[in-house]
Amino acid sequence: MKAWGYFLFTIVLDLLVIGLIYVKAEQRKTLEEAAKEKADQAVIQKDPRTGLGIDPKTRLVMGEGYDVIKVECVKCHPTQIIRSFRADRNGWLDALRWMQREKGLKTFDASTEETLLTYLTTYYGK
Ligand code: HEC
Repeated sequence: MKAWGYFLFTIVLDLLVIGLIYVKAEQRKTLEEAAKEKADQAVIQKDPRTGLGIDPKTRLVMGEGYDVIKVECVKCHPTQIIRSFRADRNGWLDALRWMQREKGLKTFDASTEETLLTYLTTYYGK
């Protein structure tokens, strides 16, 4: 009779341990899922105005012409300067000319300059 009791006790204990392991595994799964969701969100963050993706590295809109911006506009200053600047086409042209005159920005060929200005006025226009 006593042995029977021990037997039952062991079974119950085993079930408890298994239950505990299961609960821990589930908790870990939820944590992992939450972490993954967060990572995904960082990747697919979108510009609310255009619905286009935002580059997690530069925080700039990945619109048309971004491939040029990504190369020409990230060397000297944080892109925060670009993101917080709002201007129409003339304003952006002035900013480029000023950087070329005073800050050592290179001169672009006409088509590259056109790409830059179109990008800047489209996504960071007034
Ligand atoms: C050769 C270096 C260099 C490059 C490349 C460069 N800039 Fe600049 N830019 C500067 C400097 C220096 C400043 C002044 C920064 C400061 O005041 O802290 C500046 C300032 C600015 C400003 C602020 C202007 C103002 O009037 O407040 C904007 C906007 C800007 N840059 C945009 C751009 C864009 C867009 C590009 C790509 C076409 C670019 N920059 C590439 C050097 C550069």
